[in-house]
Amino acid sequence: MILILDFGSQYTQLIARRIRELNVYCEIHPWNKIPELTPNIKGVILSGSPFSVRDENSPTPDLTQIKGKLPLLGVCFGAQYLSSKYGGEVLASTIREYGRANLSSVSQNNKLTKGMSVGSQVWMSHGDTIKKVPSNYTIIASTTDVEIAGYEIQGEQTYGIQFHPEVYHSLEGAILIKNFVVEICQCKQSWTPHSFVESTVAELKEKLGNDKVILALSGGVDSSVAAVLLHKAIGENLYCIFVDNGLLRKNEFQDVLDSYKHMGLNVKGVNASEKFYTALKGLSDPELKRKAIGKTFIDVFDEEAKLVEGAKWLGQGTIYPDVIESVSVNGGPSQTIKSHHNVGGLPDYMKLQVVEPLRLLFKDEVRRVGKSLDIDDAILQRHPFPGPGLGIRILGEVTAEKVRIIQEVDHIFISSLKEDRLYGDVWQAGAIFLPVQSVGVMGDERTYENAVALRAVSSTDGMTADWVHLPYDFLAKVSNKIINQVKGINRVTYDISSKPPATIEWE
Ligand code: XMP
Repeated sequence: MILILDFGSQYTQLIARRIRELNVYCEIHPWNKIPELTPNIKGVILSGSPFSVRDENSPTPDLTQIKGKLPLLGVCFGAQYLSSKYGGEVLASTIREYGRANLSSVSQNNKLTKGMSVGSQVWMSHGDTIKKVPSNYTIIASTTDVEIAGYEIQGEQTYGIQFHPEVYHSLEGAILIKNFVVEICQCKQSWTPHSFVESTVAELKEKLGNDKVILALSGGVDSSVAAVLLHKAIGENLYCIFVDNGLLRKNEFQDVLDSYKHMGLNVKGVNASEKFYTALKGLSDPELKRKAIGKTFIDVFDEEAKLVEGAKWLGQGTIYPDVIESVSVNGGPSQTIKSHHNVGGLPDYMKLQVVEPLRLLFKDEVRRVGKSLDIDDAILQRHPFPGPGLGIRILGEVTAEKVRIIQEVDHIFISSLKEDRLYGDVWQAGAIFLPVQSVGVMGDERTYENAVALRAVSSTDGMTADWVHLPYDFLAKVSNKIINQVKGINRVTYDISSKPPATIEWE
């Protein structure tokens, strides 16, 4: 596997993605928490960073066990660090070096850059430039503005690259990453969904033996795939609980329960809507609402879990971006915007150990694993839906009546997307109940009713997103249907904000 040391770049996850796409396993760890260097670590990559190597408090990783001993690639900040630390010179750039650049020379004799071409577009994003490298460094790539765009340290398998090979805009970046991972580090490209299922099921069997595991299903891709994997390993010892928090989509509770039973899972459906509505009464602050929903969920789940005698484990569908995000919350280098994910989210008194079979997978890998487990596309291709559900799509206080209204609106929007075959082109979609009333006219009557917003975004991982340019005719049709069919709504708007600076959810 490849070890990626994270210095906080927004692109670090992309490095991992590109490596996984080669069917090679990799892990991201914060630069100051280097894991034990076991023999299966075949190479190390240093990521970019919002820091400058010239900053006083800039990261200073301890590479004594790595540099010169394992193949090592520094990207952007990583390259600057490997240069300045060992006698090179890094200065603030005099010209802006963000975005497109083209290679003016690139070595064909070098293992790292072999196969890349002169003129090839690369993506730059840096405020500093490497002005001088030590004498035992060989320059292997340049652009018109940046002479030292890539180097190799003679006698070591250590490389530095000023541009970002991990972004799609570096058109031959994948060649460079493959050269490093496959040719230089000699990783085997054997990490496939099928091999993941086989090894994970064997590990789960070994770890869990005859223990009982409780798992909260949400109807989403992650918890469903986690449940099927666990079920494959321990069968009837897996007890699934699906809580209706009263904040699910229309008909979701029954539909999802039916599809789980169909998959052979042992699932108990618990209708706890009233408890959630009571906990939400009078609350309009988004964070307080999230906390109330989270706490009520734990209370309900705890009560149900106690009914499963002798359960030792809690199964969770945590995936890799959540893990990285929680590492960042707990002192890693990246900044966190919302701390909403469900990592380690249960109180100590539950005394359950946590088992998370998907904690090393990205979302699309989870889908591929689900596919190799024969899980229905209706579940695998489902849009992500937040844990607090419609509770964070009803702005202001949540009431049963507002839930009913937004369920109807959402149902019209989502089923229209499916009818017009647009659902699969959209990463996530939903409707938001706005705490805004406006004047309208229906027939001859004045109305003074609520407005809703529709949101549909494209994304690959939810970290960045853009609004989808849905056809005007489609939006017109949906808007008409909503206003004609949903009592209480007289205005429909479409959210055209990207993330950043907005977020996908409104709360
Ligand atoms: P934001 O709003 O932060 O959302 O752009 C990014 C993605 O995360 C989902 N989301 C959540 N998922 N529990 C979840 O399981 C939550 O509390 C939560 N809040 C947001 C959101 O739907 C989007 O896919």
